[in-house]
Amino acid sequence: MTPTMTPATSGPALRVEGLGKRFGAVRALDGVTLDIRPGEVLALMGENGAGKSTLLKIITGDHRPDDGRLLLGGQEVSFGSPADARRAGVRVIAQEPEIIPHVSVAENVYVGALPARGRLFSHRALSERTRADLERLGFAGAMDPGCPGERLSPAQRQLVEILRALTGEVRVLAFDEPTSSLSDHEVSALFALIRRLRDQGVAIVYVSHRMQEILRLADRVAVLRDGRLVGVRPAAETGEDELVRMMVGRDLSAMFQRERNRPGGPVLALNGVTTDDVTDVSFEVRAGEVVGLAGLVGAGRSELARAVVGDLPIRSGEVLLEGRRLRPRSPSDTVRAGIGFAPEERKAQALLLHRSIRDNVSLAVLDRLSRFHLVRRAAERALVREYADRLRVKAPSVETEVRRLSGGNQQKVVLARWLARKPKVLILDEPTRGVDVGAKAEIYSIIDRLAADGVAVLVISSELPEVLGLADRIVVMQNGRVTGELDRRQAGEEQVLALAMADQITSEGARQ
Ligand SMILES: Nc1ncnc2c1ncn2[C@@H]1O[C@H](COP(=O)(O)OP(=O)(O)OP(=O)(O)O)[C@@H](O)[C@H]1O
Ligand SMILES: [Mg+2]
Repeated sequence: MTPTMTPATSGPALRVEGLGKRFGAVRALDGVTLDIRPGEVLALMGENGAGKSTLLKIITGDHRPDDGRLLLGGQEVSFGSPADARRAGVRVIAQEPEIIPHVSVAENVYVGALPARGRLFSHRALSERTRADLERLGFAGAMDPGCPGERLSPAQRQLVEILRALTGEVRVLAFDEPTSSLSDHEVSALFALIRRLRDQGVAIVYVSHRMQEILRLADRVAVLRDGRLVGVRPAAETGEDELVRMMVGRDLSAMFQRERNRPGGPVLALNGVTTDDVTDVSFEVRAGEVVGLAGLVGAGRSELARAVVGDLPIRSGEVLLEGRRLRPRSPSDTVRAGIGFAPEERKAQALLLHRSIRDNVSLAVLDRLSRFHLVRRAAERALVREYADRLRVKAPSVETEVRRLSGGNQQKVVLARWLARKPKVLILDEPTRGVDVGAKAEIYSIIDRLAADGVAVLVISSELPEVLGLADRIVVMQNGRVTGELDRRQAGEEQVLALAMADQITSEGARQ
């Protein structure tokens, strides 16, 4: 599976010309012309719904364009299916990896490349091959080739997609937000791999909302807005401000504003909470306070949040809500008690894909709204529209089915649901993952306002600037334990990282 490269030619590996695509009344792409050159990383940026995934889906044969054409190595091509594109050497690492749950990693990787019908293939040989692939690409030990798909973490699923894309000849390789569920270490390994492929002459298209990553990795940056190409800039000659202006069409005000009252009494308290993944965790979140939960991927933060809301069992210790012990049997019990939770895996855990934006947002407020029978529907629609507008959910109307939204807009719908509800406690797991820079600023300001209204907020985030900008206090975890608590005045990136990577837990040094 060593990717065979076509010799670097002077022309583009792939050229899209006058590309147009509509979905009903939505113009997802409009007259986009772009060259993707061999041996370069071209980053694609734009707000949620700008058309990035649609562009990738067209070049990889998932969608047919309504207008325009594709030229591969100067020749016009028309891909009738992803298999056509794959045969031509154009591959994509999708925004949501498709993993077959009950078969092994090795079979997931070589699905479609398995030996022809009738010929025997050996599971053992396939496993060995996958193990060798992992090693060669710098991901040795990242996962067991025999592990069934359903047990893989988000990062491992991503890796399966990457291995899969590298079976066979590769001329153009597209990544759709590949790092959103990767740890820093995994991101570095991925970037090293991407640079290696680039240096071998592969043309790389890289979609991401993470500005620093793009400026670190890309050679050129193309920006889409409302389906149109706004411009292409050499990465070395542009910067954050210019790119934001190109994406959003305006300057953004300061990201973090923070107008808060002094925190009140404790609303949520964890006392020695122990689960299968975390050990003896204790901390409080007070009314009007934002507590950040920091740590590396795998530190147990998401598992802790899920235990608090009754989604994973607590083995010992207790959770108190306003001083009363919480004994949830299911997440709906905690919702009723006044705890809102936007999980990390929003699509799987939180969205009804075949229902409208309105249904998905109002899910959490229905019981509240239904007290006023007559005004219910009107009130519901107004509330949903208000939050959909504030987060700039891009859709024809609030009646649009959620599965028709872009990835980032789906995230916004889950957040809108909880931001609209104003619970006593709000737990947000990676609230800005996959959302664009404008919505990010809006999410921060809504969190600030909820805290100012007295909501106790717990934010899990892997983006340190986000934790440092939002939180009044930061609790750091490592290997399922709390390794320290920092006040925002004393916290800097180094302090948080030191605690996140502290190998030894000394109970003195840990708590302050
Ligand atoms: N299958 C579909 N049916 C209807 N509308 C769609 C479909 N796929 C995409 N769209 C619409 O096309 C537009 C562009 O979507 P696209 O997924 O390309 O955005 P994106 O730039 O990838 O956004 P994100 O950053 O959120 O992933 C959006 O308005 C989206 O709602
Ligand atoms: Mg997308």
